[in-house]
Parts: sequence; C-alpha cells; structure tokens
Amino acid sequence: MSKKITFLILSGPTKEYIDPVRYISNESSGKMGNALAQAVLKKGYEIIFISGPVNIYPKNVRLIKVTTALEMFKEVKSIFKKTDVTIGVAAVTDYRPFKTYKHKIKKNTLTSSIELKQNPDIIRYCGKNKKNQVVVGFALETEHLVNNAKTKLKNKNLDLIVANGTESFGADNTTVKIISADVVLEIKNKNKKIIARKIINETIRIFKNIKSGKNISQRV
Ligand code: C5P
Repeated sequence: MSKKITFLILSGPTKEYIDPVRYISNESSGKMGNALAQAVLKKGYEIIFISGPVNIYPKNVRLIKVTTALEMFKEVKSIFKKTDVTIGVAAVTDYRPFKTYKHKIKKNTLTSSIELKQNPDIIRYCGKNKKNQVVVGFALETEHLVNNAKTKLKNKNLDLIVANGTESFGADNTTVKIISADVVLEIKNKNKKIIARKIINETIRIFKNIKSGKNISQRV
C-alpha cells in the first residue's frame, strides 16, 4: 500500500421513533454500503463504518451502529476530521418527530398528524467542513435524475455524487450515474459490487489529485 487512506462510510437507514413501537424511516438495505466497504477493503484501506439498522454489516471494519440521524451526526462530528474520504450512502431520514413518547401511544389517543423537526444534513456538514478531504454523496431521484443530483453536488459541496432510481431498492444489480463537476458516467444494470469498485477507484483518483495539488479549481 503506497499511502494510508482512511474511509468513513455512512450506510443504512436511520429510524426516528415516535414511541417505542412506531417510527419514521427510509428504504435502505445497506447492500451498496456493504459493497463499497468490500471494495475499500480489497484495496487494503481502513474503514470506519457507521450504519443505521440493517440485516447485513460488513466485517473487518470499525463498525459503529446507530439508530437515529442525530446519533449518526454525533459520531460523524467526532470522527470526520481524522478521515480522508467520506461516503454518504445512508438513507438519512430528513425529519424526526418533534416529540418522542416514552410509552406506546394508545390507538384511541393517536392524532391524525405528527409534528416533525428537520434532521441535520450530515453529508452537507462534511462537504462544508472538508479540508483536503473527499466527500461523496448518493442521490436517489424519481425524476430529473442528473439535474437534481448536480444541484445536490453543488449545494452540499461534494466531490462526487452517485445518482440512482428506486429500482435499486434491495436489488443486487442497479443502474447509476456517477457525477462530478464536469463528468457524468453511466453504469447500466451492473452488480452493486462492480459499481462500488468503480466508485472507489474514482474516489481514490480524486483524493490523490487533491493531495498532489491538482483539481483545486473544482473545490470551493
Ligand atoms: O436526501 P438527499 O437526496 O438530500 O440525499 C443526498 C445525500 O445526502 C445522500 O448522500 C445522503 O446520505 C445525504 N444526506 C445526509 N443527511 C440528510 C439527508 C441526506 O447525509 N439529512
């Protein structure tokens, strides 16, 4: 290994509890996060893997299990500075209930609406606070895939964004567009392991460019 690169991978969904039984969450199997971890391990680099609740967790990583977006954010804030590359593949729930009830709410006292509060945007925090680090995000879009992903790339100050549609949910194969400031690369109907290897190779290339002083013009 020529140079040590420490990866931080944020994966899985977050769950935001209304009461001990009910929660708000997003669809996420953790498969892509796992595939990314395997691709990084193959290269021999170290991984800190923060994951929301899923059925599969990678081995040979420093695994931190979390449930909520706030828990994930707390871990990221204490770890981010010590890492080189952050990949946000987590389906972070954008909102959490304003109030979490200690006991199960009785059906007859349930109201027809729940007050919500916005969660922090974790990958945006990484993008805005990066110092010679690479930050990669994912964008799941149901329409205007490339345009919406490009907007997120810019707003969150990311180096790369991987855009896909809902057909990727739980699937082994998927189609993605890997988007940087000036390049859109499409990979059609390939196994997530193959896609992960491509993303990691691209990420390492960007990291090495930054370290060697190239690519600076694209960075805010
Ligand atoms: O939800 P959105 O489409 O904005 O997600 C785009 C990227 O932002 C993903 O990488 C996702 O993990 C990240 N994100 C986050 N914190 C949020 C919402 C999204 O890190 N609260």
